[in-house]
Amino acid sequence: MTAENRTPPGREEGPLPETGTAVPAAADPVERLLAEVVEETQPAPVALHHDMRGRGAIVTGGSSGIGRAIALELARSGVHVAINYFDDGDRRTRARAEATAAELRQLEVNVLCRACDVRDPAAVNAFVDEARETFGGLDILVNNAGIARDRALWRMSDEQWQEVLDTNLTGAFHMIRAVAPIFRAQQHGKIVNVSSVHGIRSEFGLANYAASKAGLIGLTRSAAIELGPSNVNVNAVAPGYIRTTRLTDGVAPEVLDRARERSVLGRLGDPQDVAHVVIFLCSEQARHITGAVIPVDGGHLL
Ligand code: NAI
Repeated sequence: MTAENRTPPGREEGPLPETGTAVPAAADPVERLLAEVVEETQPAPVALHHDMRGRGAIVTGGSSGIGRAIALELARSGVHVAINYFDDGDRRTRARAEATAAELRQLEVNVLCRACDVRDPAAVNAFVDEARETFGGLDILVNNAGIARDRALWRMSDEQWQEVLDTNLTGAFHMIRAVAPIFRAQQHGKIVNVSSVHGIRSEFGLANYAASKAGLIGLTRSAAIELGPSNVNVNAVAPGYIRTTRLTDGVAPEVLDRARERSVLGRLGDPQDVAHVVIFLCSEQARHITGAVIPVDGGHLL
């Protein structure tokens, strides 16, 4: 018997009942299961990411590195983008953020660029409100802001521990809590959290960072469960070593060589590699994916 002419056991040949047709109580098990499906919908056939045009997004830490690549990719899809950065008092930090904002504006979308510390819940609420007012709505949140303070844990100070947890994990919580009422009221929204392979498998000196990124995966799953009934998708990406200045300026060359060897593709990633996956998760093409953690690591975790 070929796959084409195989009939499920106990299933009669013949037309299926039309949608809404009452299924007789004595129907076979397959038909009883089908009858439980109240309504089947089909994803709309849209060109890749064209559905995102005119949406409003927040990308935390969007002024540099991976966040900048995500913000630019969203803007290329016609999404209005709000980026924030941590004002460390260095003039160059602000200049870099303004430069990214200018690049985004060239893509003919509305852009908001603010200094906003994700550790500060009042500042986060004000930033979210301003983004929503500026764009006339808010549909996408990408929690990308993050820091590292690597140290053997017996030498790690309370401040180094707390700063990383507060930024990478509590900051994401503040943002999700601020957008949740908006997304719930409108019954749609996309949240993507930028975790790390180190949230799945750690290395020496990363106790604070690994804990924060593993926590972010737990937060992703909880938020997916709580916001799923409101048609909000919450996912995470887990990048491996990605070539940003944070990495090239701050990580020893031998560590990068080891990371390259560990990647089965034999290379480090680029910010764009992460951005493409994030954009997919923000699009309607990914509407049936939630609570997932997608490695973008060249096979680092294998
Ligand atoms: P980056 O240093 O270029 O970007 C970090 C951004 O976060 C900056 O724009 C900074 O202003 C912002 N930020 C830091 N503290 C903040 C705070 N308290 N409030 C608001 N914004 C704050 O670094 P990169 O490499 O682009 O990293 C982006 C994200 O990707 C981070 O969460 C990082 O942990 C994660 N990641 C990076 C990998 C890499 O190899 N570069 C690998 C895996 C994950």
